[in-house]
Amino acid sequence: MFEHLQQYAGDPIFGLNDAFHRNTHPQKINLTIGLYYDDDGRIPVLSSVAAVERGLASDPAPRTYLPMEGLASYRSAVQRVVFGAGSEAVAQGRVATIQTLGGTGALKVGADLLHAAYPESGIWISDPAWDNHYAIFGGAGVPTHSYPYYDPATKGLAFDAMMSCLRGLPSRSIVLLHPCCHNPTGVDLSRDQWREVIGVLSERGLIPFLDMAYQGMGEGMDDDAHAVRAMAEAGLSFLVANSFSKNLSVYGERCGGLSVVCGSEAEAELVLGQLKAIVRRIYSSAPWHGGHVVAGVLNDENLHAQWLEDVAAMRERMSWMRTLVHEQLSAKLPGYDAGYFVRQQGMFTYTGLSREHLLALRERHGVYIIDSGRVAVPGLNTANVEHFTNAMADVLNTL
Ligand code: LMR
Repeated sequence: MFEHLQQYAGDPIFGLNDAFHRNTHPQKINLTIGLYYDDDGRIPVLSSVAAVERGLASDPAPRTYLPMEGLASYRSAVQRVVFGAGSEAVAQGRVATIQTLGGTGALKVGADLLHAAYPESGIWISDPAWDNHYAIFGGAGVPTHSYPYYDPATKGLAFDAMMSCLRGLPSRSIVLLHPCCHNPTGVDLSRDQWREVIGVLSERGLIPFLDMAYQGMGEGMDDDAHAVRAMAEAGLSFLVANSFSKNLSVYGERCGGLSVVCGSEAEAELVLGQLKAIVRRIYSSAPWHGGHVVAGVLNDENLHAQWLEDVAAMRERMSWMRTLVHEQLSAKLPGYDAGYFVRQQGMFTYTGLSREHLLALRERHGVYIIDSGRVAVPGLNTANVEHFTNAMADVLNTL
């Protein structure tokens, strides 16, 4: 029945992560996927998460269906984390928020909403992008395009080119933006640049869709949400997908949120209804366990404070790894500018390594980096960073 189907080429991130696990190199390093590992190379179970889970296990509750929009205490916690406790838009009831299946689920539900509301609109995605952005929006029937973002010459932002593209977009075009920790480049906009972008989005009547999968991994939980809050304060209508996969280390629980900032409370009610209808027809409702775990951490003052400390420790460890790589590479490769390791931030760094370099890193040294040259920084730790910089020096010297 299905023999005529095309072979799935595999996912560039999950596929290489699988290949890493099959490799037997004794010093192999996994820099493929956006997972946070601690300095011992383990995916942490945060103590705040474990505390809530102990409570849930000691007094088991019926695993009933959650409402289509998700758990109420989860949704309000998402609004506080994303928009800030003092958000005017939230206080005015203008934000429709649902619990979603991770950030990916939020993007899919948002894509379906936008395609139904604006069937003629295309989406503009940063170049380079997280590949799944194309798959999710294309799969939802939204025509996909790209806007310039990264400048390989400076390993920084191509801001002028980005702005001139945005200025030329038809009104009601959708623009996908990363408020922090851009995936895959680690190159973010400054606050002044956000101000300019917000000006153009507003003047041109564009529809911003913010994908915030790494809140807290760049500069801090509030600082990383600057673009979201500035956009809300500027009075724009927009969508935000957020994820707790990385910052609460609950990847497989599929915990995210989709928030749609509207012009009025009545409009937010309409949007919430449509979001519920979309969820119902795809998967009916969000997971009970993950919802209660996240809500349990975020709504308890002590656990919340403990969580923020844990996120700060993750951020500081990644920043320390960046410093070590910069120092070691600068010493081992005097002519090579490794400054991008410390200028870029968050979980990813864009190396600009060629396919030949990447294959040699895998084959000679067991160092796995995806084909775009994106390094997932948390795969580095004090025990393996030297092997990584030796491997980099080897391939850059010999190829
Ligand atoms: C990544 O970019 O590596 C992560 O966001 C994991 C994923 O879903 O691709």
